[in-house]
Amino acid sequence: MKDFFLIYAHRGASATHPENTMPAFAAALRQGATGIELDVQLTRDNKLVVFHDWSLKRIFGKPGHIRDYTLAELRRFDAGSWFDSRFSGLSIPTLDDVLARAATKPIMLNIELKNFFSFSNGIEQKVSEAITRHNLQDKTVISTFNPLSLESLQQINCGVETAFLYFGHLRKAWHYAREYNCTYLHPPVHEVTAPFVDACREYSIKIVPYQVNTLPEIKRMIELGTDGIITSQPALAHRLLHGEKRRKPKR
Ligand code: G3P
Ligand code: CA
Repeated sequence: MKDFFLIYAHRGASATHPENTMPAFAAALRQGATGIELDVQLTRDNKLVVFHDWSLKRIFGKPGHIRDYTLAELRRFDAGSWFDSRFSGLSIPTLDDVLARAATKPIMLNIELKNFFSFSNGIEQKVSEAITRHNLQDKTVISTFNPLSLESLQQINCGVETAFLYFGHLRKAWHYAREYNCTYLHPPVHEVTAPFVDACREYSIKIVPYQVNTLPEIKRMIELGTDGIITSQPALAHRLLHGEKRRKPKR
């Protein structure tokens, strides 16, 4: 499934639906995404939930962080209203919810570990076990901004491909991807140029840039020959690659 141009919907179809929710992931498929990108954190009772922010303020309007609440407490919060009242009553998904659904669909997954402020909380082992439980090792890539997590993933032999994810600028970023035994490099789109792609190829590192949200940037990535993109505009990318023909929604 990995030998084609990947369109990862960033936090699901986050331009049209509340990010990191089940409806956002279902909509991503309908919009032509071939993968979904999602963020994972650990709750106070050590359950894996899908949520991006460090603070709960923007989405839930609550104080504190994911790790301050149990799953049962978080499930009571509304994950949809902040986006639009049409989505009120949605609850935060667990990673298991998403994996169970993904196992029945022709879709790739990019699971990003959000543990920059919670070092050594064991999230790597738990995510790896969850992926194995759903038999999704071949359809999943784990990424993280935290290199310590990439080391942990190696130590536990997670059996899932990994991506070196970074922001801003990193000189010769492909060296780091290799150093941490990653199959993929996930750079911000502004980093990607023809020499950058050439260097990654030389190191046999696959490139999937993020923040690729405009037509010119999507086009530029296709022309440069990256292995895919992470975008909040999967429909745009799909149209550019396949013309007006829409994928038939799968049930
Ligand atoms: O994986 C790329 C992208 O999702 C990283 O940034 O902040 O949206 O998780 P962020
Ligand atoms: Ca992310």
